Amino acid sequence: MKPLRVALLGCGTVGSEVVRLLREQAADLTARVGAPLELAGVAVRRPERAREHVDPGLLTTDAMSLVTRDDVDIVVEVIGGIEPARSLLLAAMKAGKSVVTANKALLAEDGETVFGAAREYGADLYYEAAVAGAIPLLRPLRESLVGDHVKRVIGIVNGTTNYILDQMDTFGASFTDALEEAQSLGYAEADPTADVEGFDAAAKAAILAQLAFHTPVSAADVHREGITEVTAADVAGAKAMNSVVKLLAICERVPDPDGSNGGRGVSVRVYPAMIPRSHPLASVREAYNAVFVEAQSAGSLMFYGAGAGGAPTASAVLGDLVAVARNRVGGTRGPVEVTYAELPVLPMGET
Ligand code: NDP
Ligand code: HSE
Repeated sequence: MKPLRVALLGCGTVGSEVVRLLREQAADLTARVGAPLELAGVAVRRPERAREHVDPGLLTTDAMSLVTRDDVDIVVEVIGGIEPARSLLLAAMKAGKSVVTANKALLAEDGETVFGAAREYGADLYYEAAVAGAIPLLRPLRESLVGDHVKRVIGIVNGTTNYILDQMDTFGASFTDALEEAQSLGYAEADPTADVEGFDAAAKAAILAQLAFHTPVSAADVHREGITEVTAADVAGAKAMNSVVKLLAICERVPDPDGSNGGRGVSVRVYPAMIPRSHPLASVREAYNAVFVEAQSAGSLMFYGAGAGGAPTASAVLGDLVAVARNRVGGTRGPVEVTYAELPVLPMGET
């Protein structure tokens, strides 16, 4: 069987784990896909750095040439940020490649362009790793629950801030020390401001809301507060009241005052909140994430697991990689994003 050739963009915390899994699980992946998955090249900024598991001959700084090469079938983007990731993904889809990305910042900032390109070029675009690390959450929303009426999605979707708040609560750690630990464990974004100021959680909330409510939602629509104003005294005060501080993401339909129209709109918010220790979200420790989905027919569903880190995120990336590879082998494609402004997104903070 002809191998499927994979271009990997980025070989940092997540990308290096993707390479490791591709090597260590090569035989099983071949059997599951029906064809071998072969690395065609790995784009990085600093090729001179030693990288475990990576054949140095595969490294390149010319990501654009790599994604448009004729011998590449699938592009996996784990660089992060808006540019050059957006241009690379658009060029890849235009060139007929299937695409896997973990880039929530890009999808929330300019999903319209990226999803539009997938539709225009008939490209597969999978992005399970973009929200909640290893937890299968987007596929259930995108596929399993698409026939239901989702009313609310609420949870903890940023591992770094949960780690910091948990360390402050459990060990009395300082904010700065806990953030440094989260960075060293590979949980934080390249610029951790994205985590602690709530931008990362807001991007994830926008993606969740878009899938849950079939309505275009971007990062700019999300009311956002981070945890930089949360002090040791706030955490201790919550503890004294048998509560914890957690950074919550809340996406919900806002009902009409008279309940007539199936919802007045969509509201998406991210902010630190004090919750009682008896609440299930209070027991989410370290960099774990947990998300509750409330749907009309399905009722309440709970998703829980590792929300950040190289190996858990690589697991989600590999899942997508196998899915797009199988689609290529079968000559088909996965779900296509359709959003049609079912409900208006209400101005920031309005409920
Ligand atoms: P890192 O900062 O660890 O890695 C980024 C990689 O991209 C590095 O290998 C870097 O090269 C490479 N890179 C950066 N700019 C360029 C460029 N212009 N051209 C080519 N390569 C470039 O990030 P992560 O692995 O942590 O995150 C990657 C993506 O995954 C992000 O979108 C992030 O939001 C997402 N994600 C991360 C999770 C995590 O827990 N870390 C969890 C879920 C999603 P070099 O090595 O030479 O510096
Ligand atoms: N920085 C992100 C987090 C990585 O801490 O949740 C996972 O998306």
